Amino acid sequence: MERYERIFFAISAVMLTVFLCALAYASIAMHINLPSSQATITVKPGENLATAVLTTPPFNHPGVRQTGPNQYEVDVIAQAWYFYPNKIKVPAGADITFKVTSVDVIHGFFIPGTTVNMMIIPGHISVTHYRFEKRGDYLLLCNEYCGKEHHTMHAEVQVQ
Ligand code: CUA
Repeated sequence: MERYERIFFAISAVMLTVFLCALAYASIAMHINLPSSQATITVKPGENLATAVLTTPPFNHPGVRQTGPNQYEVDVIAQAWYFYPNKIKVPAGADITFKVTSVDVIHGFFIPGTTVNMMIIPGHISVTHYRFEKRGDYLLLCNEYCGKEHHTMHAEVQVQ
C-alpha cells in the first residue's frame, strides 16, 4: 500500500471514530435522539382509529404522570386542531418522556427553544425525552400542516 493511502486510511479511521463517539455522546449523555415511532395503536375490526386510541393505554388516560423519582411521562393526543391535554404542568429539572399519537392526520409536536420536535403520525406512538432546566411557560405547537385551522393548534407547557 502506498504511504499516502495508509495516511488517508488512518485519517478516515480517526474521523469515523470521532464521529461515532460524538454520536454516542449526544445520544447517551445528552439524550438527543431522533424521535422514534416505537409502537403503533392496534385498531380492531369495525373500530375507528379515534376509538382505538382512546381505549389504548396510556392514551385512555392522557396527561402527566410520575413514573419514578424525578421522572414523568406526558401522554398527549393530537387531533385537528387540538392537543389533549392542552395545559401540561411538569416540574423543572425532571426527566420528561413525551408519548404522542394522532387520531386523524399527521400533526407536529414542537416546543420552540427545546429539542422537542416530532412528527405525529396517525396510529403511531412518537416518543421523545426532554428536561426543562428553566421554569416558565412554553408553547407547544403543531408544525405540520394539518388543515384549515392548523395555525391555531397549540397548547401550553408550564414548567414549575
Ligand atoms: Cu395539527 Cu397542524
